[in-house]
Amino acid sequence: MSWRSFEHALDRWFPAGTNPLRHLGALACLALALLLTTGAWLFAVYDSSVAGAHPSVSALAAQPLAGGLVRGLHRYAGDALLIFVWLHLLREWALGRHRLFRRATWWTGLPLLPFLYIVAIGGFWLAWDRLAQYAAIASAQWLDTLPLVGGGFARQFDLEVPDRLFSLLLFVHTGVALLVVFALWFHLQRLARPALWPPRALALGTLGVLLALALLWPVRSGPPAELGSAPLIASFDWWLLHLLPLADATPTLAWLAVVAMLALLALAPLWPRAPAASAAVVDAENCNGCGRCVDDCPYVAVSLVTRTGGDALAVVDADLCAACGLCAGACPSATPFRSNTRLISGIDLPGSTVDALRLRLRAQLAARPAAVVVYACERGAGPSTDVAGVDCVWLPLACVGQLPPAFVDYALRQGATGVVVAACEACEFRLGERYARERLAGLREPRLRARVPTQRWRIVRAAEGEERQLTEVIDGLRRARG
Ligand code: HEM
Ligand code: SF4
Ligand code: SF4
Repeated sequence: MSWRSFEHALDRWFPAGTNPLRHLGALACLALALLLTTGAWLFAVYDSSVAGAHPSVSALAAQPLAGGLVRGLHRYAGDALLIFVWLHLLREWALGRHRLFRRATWWTGLPLLPFLYIVAIGGFWLAWDRLAQYAAIASAQWLDTLPLVGGGFARQFDLEVPDRLFSLLLFVHTGVALLVVFALWFHLQRLARPALWPPRALALGTLGVLLALALLWPVRSGPPAELGSAPLIASFDWWLLHLLPLADATPTLAWLAVVAMLALLALAPLWPRAPAASAAVVDAENCNGCGRCVDDCPYVAVSLVTRTGGDALAVVDADLCAACGLCAGACPSATPFRSNTRLISGIDLPGSTVDALRLRLRAQLAARPAAVVVYACERGAGPSTDVAGVDCVWLPLACVGQLPPAFVDYALRQGATGVVVAACEACEFRLGERYARERLAGLREPRLRARVPTQRWRIVRAAEGEERQLTEVIDGLRRARG
């Protein structure tokens, strides 16, 4: 079973649009926000002395809401964050979203992994109970096996630890947590309008689950650490501490495993080599410098420069371009009503131009004059046998966001019975379906003219294999026309 079909199968179990697998980056942001807010609260009550560390944390249990609940939320949000991040990584890899123009986003995501482990393991030290003692000694011994550390770190725990160690640990825990926020900002630099927040129902559901966990299974400290005696571990957090038992048993193998994993992940975008689709190209004569393509590019691949004479001109960075065509859909010069024999727009995809789209539309409508025109994302439902019997003109696009909305109006004026804009199930280019909907609804430039009758066109989502549902929409438009 491919990841896509697994995700599709899971859609049935959640209310529309709330399948968590489709919002893993945003869920990780939510967990991180929760960690930072509960962490700020815990920071305020933490006593960073050897004598005060354990009592200040274990005393939280005495205040079930202001203390215990906050501590529980902090721990479970940490578990959730690591789970969301690993699933997010797995999903992007399984969908092939780690290569080409997404390489930089993948590579800048990688440092987040070690940072998160450092914050997580360091957090356990601060409670200074027997589990903290185990975490501290196991990780110190593991660090000691590194050639440059020199083997003195674990000796700190032979008999007594100095007060300043806890101040240092607190500094590392909070400092690296802030580094995670900075690294996240870096990670999202190549994405326009990243989805930082899950849909409201999913966010509330996730918060509800974390609250329930914190209330039903409160996080409690074990007995205080006793250096010189063997650590007792009553409950172990496998989600956050899974590296330590391996590091404890075979430190060298644990280092090799970590380095090999990071190296494999770092090299993943380079293999197998995938050919890049041709990047969007600007035609200087047809660009008026309006900047709509800059606003709508989901991968920050277009910018404006000043040309001689002072006017603005769009330029594309081909290395960043996803060849999604959203810029072509945004360009005001891409209207098919222009009388030129050749429709050259300000910005366009060389392999799939608006001119070619207009020519195909005209030719196919000439052959089937009253057909319904379907502008379809090439990743969604295809012209299968289900659709073959239906009188429609099928025009595939890189993404529905590639369609200048005037093409809907134009098809109707050329005699089409109706127009369907068919998006795939989850936009490959993140913002294509959203922009197409907004442009057709008149909420975003370029807008579909308000006088185009709404009963003559539809925008729908149809995954591969959902051709029958699409056929029903096409038939519906035909029946409405009589
Ligand atoms: C704290 C950890 C992380 C957080 C909070 C996070 C968050 C996000 C968010 C919010 C997005 C934008 C999603 C969208 O707008 O559709 C994103 C995209 C992405 N992330 Fe992460 N991420 C994290 C770690 C990682 C890691 C470890 C990797 C892989 C090494 C990774 C790989 C990617 C990729 C490839 C994309 C681009 C997806 C696309 O272009 O469609 N992320 N991430
Ligand atoms: S949308 Fe078209 S006209 Fe506007 S800046 Fe981009 S290429 Fe130029
Ligand atoms: S095709 Fe256009 S919108 Fe898409 S990434 Fe390239 S420049 Fe940006």
